[in-house]
Amino acid sequence: EQQNRELRERLMELKKERNAIILAHYYQRDEIQEVADFRGDSFLLAQKAAQTDADTIVFCGVHFMGESAKILAPNKTVIIPDERAGCPMADMVNVDGLRQLKAKHPNAKVVTYINSSAEIKAETDICCTSANAVQVVNSVEGDEVIWVPDKNLGHYVQQKTDKKMIIWEGYCNTHDMLTVKDVVEMKAKYPNAEFVVHPECRPEVVALGDFVGSTTAIIKYCKESPNKEFIVGTEDGTGFQLRKDSPDKTFHFATKYLVCPNMKVNNLKKLVKCLETMQPQIYVPPQIADKARLSLERMLQVK
Ligand code: 13P
Ligand code: SF4
Repeated sequence: EQQNRELRERLMELKKERNAIILAHYYQRDEIQEVADFRGDSFLLAQKAAQTDADTIVFCGVHFMGESAKILAPNKTVIIPDERAGCPMADMVNVDGLRQLKAKHPNAKVVTYINSSAEIKAETDICCTSANAVQVVNSVEGDEVIWVPDKNLGHYVQQKTDKKMIIWEGYCNTHDMLTVKDVVEMKAKYPNAEFVVHPECRPEVVALGDFVGSTTAIIKYCKESPNKEFIVGTEDGTGFQLRKDSPDKTFHFATKYLVCPNMKVNNLKKLVKCLETMQPQIYVPPQIADKARLSLERMLQVK
């Protein structure tokens, strides 16, 4: 604790020196969420990155999030605590495969989940997050959509839109691990609890949800619900904000495996170090960034 106090003090000095803003995803370790200027889901943090007037953005999340921040704020320096924090789902789609799909379906618009690389975004008409996926799909022209990379979120959106979706087979290793059996057992154990679930979970698990939504939507729902007890079907870092917002409520994570190891690669020590050394920095080649920016800016304009 003494060491953490010293780290936090050093962090405050460095933040001033660098005119930096710290953005942290809700799946980050508590010690990082505690010191962030903004906590949020993918959508909220992309918005913050696009709007900030700080010189330096420290992005505590996974690589594609830092990349999106850099694309949206090309004149800022974007640093991350550890460049090994990647997202396996983002790596499940490649440019060649996507180009082949586009050639096969020339009339389809490409809607890409923000959990993807800059190269994939550069091949995309419009990005989305789990917070706006249905609105984004409904906003595109025509009636056919190529959807990459999350099949689970894709299936969820397909139920809510009339567009025909051609769905890539990617998934989140963490959310996809949650099974119907896990949830049924938890519901039996906590019969008064509501089950809140992220749409990155399997369709049959999402179908059991009393509420389905992005991380921010889940937090808001739990805060506003009259219910006092919840079974949570998303990553365990979300507990930090859930408990902060609703100290009188009880949250049971649906399994102990709802932990994204990539998100946990970052810690307070690495956060301080990256501000000290201003490394690692995110770099996106301008010709890729310029194309990818269009797809992200279109997303930010969808109401
Ligand atoms: P949201 O932040 O949009 O809820 O997405 C969840 C996620 O898995 C981020 O990597
Ligand atoms: Fe990727 Fe899933 Fe981790 Fe999010 S929680 S970063 S989608 S692996």
